[in-house]
Amino acid sequence: MPGEARVKLNPEQQAAVDARGLVFVSAGAGTGKTKVLVERFARAVCDEGVDVESILVITYTEKAAGELRSRIRAELTVRGRPDLARALDGAWISTIHGFCHRLLRSHPFAAGVDPRFRVVDESQGRVLRGEAFETSLTEFCAQDDPARLRLLAVYGADGLRRMLTGVYETLRSAGRELVLELGGGPQFDAKVTELRDAAQCLADDSGSGETARETARQALVLLDADVRAERLCDLGDLRVRGERAATYEESRRAVEQAALDELAAADRDLLQELLAAFAAAYQEAKDRESALDFEDLQLRARDLLRDDIAIREREQLRFRSIMVDEFQDTNRLQCELIDLIAGAGSERFVVGDEFQSIYGFRHADVQVFRERRASAGEGVLPLTMNYRSRPEVLAVVNHLFGGDFGDEFQPLAASREFPDPVFGPPVELLVTDKTSYADTDVHWRRGEARAIARRIRDLIDAGDATAGEIVLLFAAGTDAEWYEDELRTLGIATYRGTGRGYFGQQQVVDLLAYLRLLRNRYDDEALVSVLASPFVGISNDALVLLRRAAPKRPLFVALERELPESLPERDAQLLRAFRQRYDRLTAASARLSLERLCERVMAEHDYDLAVLATWDGRRRYANLRKLARLARSYEELRGPDVEGFVRFVRDQEAVGARELEAVAEEEGGDAVRLLTIHAAKGLEFKVVVVADAGRDRAPPASDEILALSDGRFGFRVADPVTSERRGAYAYEEVREARKAEERAERLRLYYASPARSIPPVRPTRRPRSAGCWAGSRR
Ligand SMILES: Nc1ncnc2c1ncn2[C@@H]1O[C@H](COP(=O)(O)OP(=O)(O)OP(=O)(O)O)[C@@H](O)[C@H]1O
Ligand SMILES: [Mg+2]
Repeated sequence: MPGEARVKLNPEQQAAVDARGLVFVSAGAGTGKTKVLVERFARAVCDEGVDVESILVITYTEKAAGELRSRIRAELTVRGRPDLARALDGAWISTIHGFCHRLLRSHPFAAGVDPRFRVVDESQGRVLRGEAFETSLTEFCAQDDPARLRLLAVYGADGLRRMLTGVYETLRSAGRELVLELGGGPQFDAKVTELRDAAQCLADDSGSGETARETARQALVLLDADVRAERLCDLGDLRVRGERAATYEESRRAVEQAALDELAAADRDLLQELLAAFAAAYQEAKDRESALDFEDLQLRARDLLRDDIAIREREQLRFRSIMVDEFQDTNRLQCELIDLIAGAGSERFVVGDEFQSIYGFRHADVQVFRERRASAGEGVLPLTMNYRSRPEVLAVVNHLFGGDFGDEFQPLAASREFPDPVFGPPVELLVTDKTSYADTDVHWRRGEARAIARRIRDLIDAGDATAGEIVLLFAAGTDAEWYEDELRTLGIATYRGTGRGYFGQQQVVDLLAYLRLLRNRYDDEALVSVLASPFVGISNDALVLLRRAAPKRPLFVALERELPESLPERDAQLLRAFRQRYDRLTAASARLSLERLCERVMAEHDYDLAVLATWDGRRRYANLRKLARLARSYEELRGPDVEGFVRFVRDQEAVGARELEAVAEEEGGDAVRLLTIHAAKGLEFKVVVVADAGRDRAPPASDEILALSDGRFGFRVADPVTSERRGAYAYEEVREARKAEERAERLRLYYASPARSIPPVRPTRRPRSAGCWAGSRR
C-alpha cells in the first residue's frame, strides 16, 4: 500500500511503534497491526541504523509474506531510501518454513542433513506418504494375523491411511512424539470392584424393589463367575431403573466402558505399531531422496537450535529484532522455534488477532496465542480503531460476535466517519426460507444465488458499484458454481477463485484417461472416456456401433479393424483423426517428460483451444496446467512413470485429498469475484457478500481414529458382542473437543471476512439461509 508513510498514526499505534522489549499487540481486524509492524521495521533501519538483515520477520502464509515485503519496500521508498528498499532482497522476511529452510542451508552438517537436500512440495510429500503407507500396511498384514486383518476390515485400507496419516500430521506439527497416549491407565479391575460394591448395596437395600434387587444379585453372580472384558462390555441386561440404583447404574456403565477400553488396548497397540512403521517408512523414503518435507524443516531447525548452543547463540546475535505478524496462526512447534531464536538482547514484536485464526486445518493452534498473550503481561498493547469499514458495518459485527467471542473481544470502533452516502442501507441481510423451497424443484441455494445475482445486477445498473468492486465470499469447502451460474445468467462477468474437488473436474478426468490410454490402449474405460470427451467427441450411437463391431474384445480392436460401415461419416472422420494423433502421441510418449506429454496430448487434439473457447475456459485451462505441474512434480520424484502418476492421482481421490481447483490468472477485467474467505483475507472491497452461509455445517468429523494437538487420543472399536461401533478411551471427549474447535473456527472464519462485512447468520441449525451484504465505502 504505497503512500502509507504519509498517514498519521493514531496514539495507540504510535505507542505500539515506540514500545521496547517484548511487545504483544492483540487487536482486531483492520486496526493497523501490520502497519505498525511495517513502521517499526522502517524506523529501525532508517532511523536507528539497524541492518536490514538483522531483523527477522515471520508470517504464516507465502501470500502474506509477499505482501509484507512489498509494504515494507513501499514504506522505505516513501521515506526516500531506495537503497534500503533494494537491500530488502536479502532480508529475512518469510514464512516460518522459509526461515527454517534458510537456516538449514547455512548449517547442513550441524543439522545432520545432506547439504544438497531438497524440499518436497505438498504433492510430492503425498506421493511418498502414500507409498510409505502402502509398504507398511503390507508388512503389517503379511503374517495373516487375524487381529491385524480384523483391524484392516474394520477401518478399510483407505480409511486407515487417511486417519493414521491425519494423526501423524497432528502429532508431528505439535512437535510431539508419535505416541498414541491412552489417558487414565488401566481401570478395569477398579471399576469391576466398584460395581461389585454397588451391586451388593443394591441387593441389600430393602428400600428398593424386588426386581432391582434380583438384578443386582444376578450382577454379583456374573461378577463372581466371569470377569473377562469380553463378557462385560455389554451389560444391558443388568440395567436397573430408579433413583436408588443411580450409583449402581453409573458403575455398570463405567464397567462397560472400561471393558471396551481393555479390549481396545490390543487394537491401540496395533495402531501404534502401524503408525510407527509408517513413520519409519516415510522417513526412509525421504532419506533415500535426501528430501525434507515442510514439517521436517521446522523439526530439524528446532533440533538444531535447541541442541547446538554455539549455533543458537550465533543466530541469536544475528537478529536484533524479531517481528511476527498474524501470530494467531502459529502452533507449538513454531512458537518453540521463535523462542529459540530470540536471544536475551533482542526485541520481540508480535501481532495478531485471535478471532482471525482460521488455519486450524493446517495445524494452527490459537491456544498458543492466548497463552502467550496471558504471559506477556504489561507488554500487551491494544489497537482499537478500525480503518477498513463503516461504523454501521462494525456495529453489526460487534453485535453479532461480541456475545460469542467473550471477554477478550474488543469491539471494533470506526476510525472515521465516511462522508459519502452509502447506497441503500450499509448492511443488508438476505434470508432464504429453506422450507419454502421444500416442495419445489429449485434448491434453496439456487434461490439464494438468484436473489444475490439480482441484487448485484441492480447495484451495477444503478451505478452504485462496478463488478470489480464486488466480491462473494464462501467458507472453505463450498462450491460456488450455482452462484457463478446465476450471475452469468444476468450477464455479469465473474471470476471464480474457489472450487472444490479438483480431481473430479472433467478436464482432469479427461486428461488422465488419455494418459492411461497411452499406457494401455486396451483400457476400455479410458478409451470410452477419451472418445466421448472433447478430445474426440464422437456420438453415443458411434460408441454403440463400435462396441458391436468387436464384441467381447477390447474396444480398441474395433478401431484397428475396418470401421463399421454404418458409422456416420462425421464420426468415422473423427475416429480416423484420433487414430493418427494417438499413434503420433504413443510414439512420442517414450521420450517426453510427463509434463510435456500432458501438453502434447492437449495440443495434438486442440483440446486446450476447445477448453479455452468455453465461457469458463481460463479456469478449466488452469486446471489442466495444474495437472501438468503435478506431473512434473511427480516426475522429479519418480521419473517419467505414467502409470505411477495416474495411480497417484486416482489414489488422491480415493483418500479424499483436499485439493482445490486451480485458480486462473486474474482476468484484469471488471468482474465480480467469488473467493474463499481464506483467499480474500487482507483484501478490501466496496461490496462484500457473504454467501451460502445458511448451509448446514459440514457433518462432524467422521474419523474414527482421532488425536488432538495436546496428545489426547481415542478411537472407535467394534463391540465384540453387538458389532456396534463404540468410542474407546477418550474418543468421545476428543471428538467433542474437535467439534467445538471446528465450530469456533467457523465462527472466526465469518468474522475474518474482509471489509468487516456483515457476517451472515451464525452457524446455527435454523432452517434458514442468509446471504449478507455490506455496502461499505472504504
Ligand atoms: N493511522 C492510519 N490512518 C489511515 N489509515 C490507516 C492507519 N492505520 C492503518 N491504516 C489502513 O488501514 C488498513 C488496515 O491496516 P492493516 O492492514 O495494517 O491492519 P491489520 O490490523 O494488520 O489488519 P488485519 O487484521 O487484516 O491483518 C490499511 O489499508 C492501512 O493502510
Ligand atoms: Mg495484518
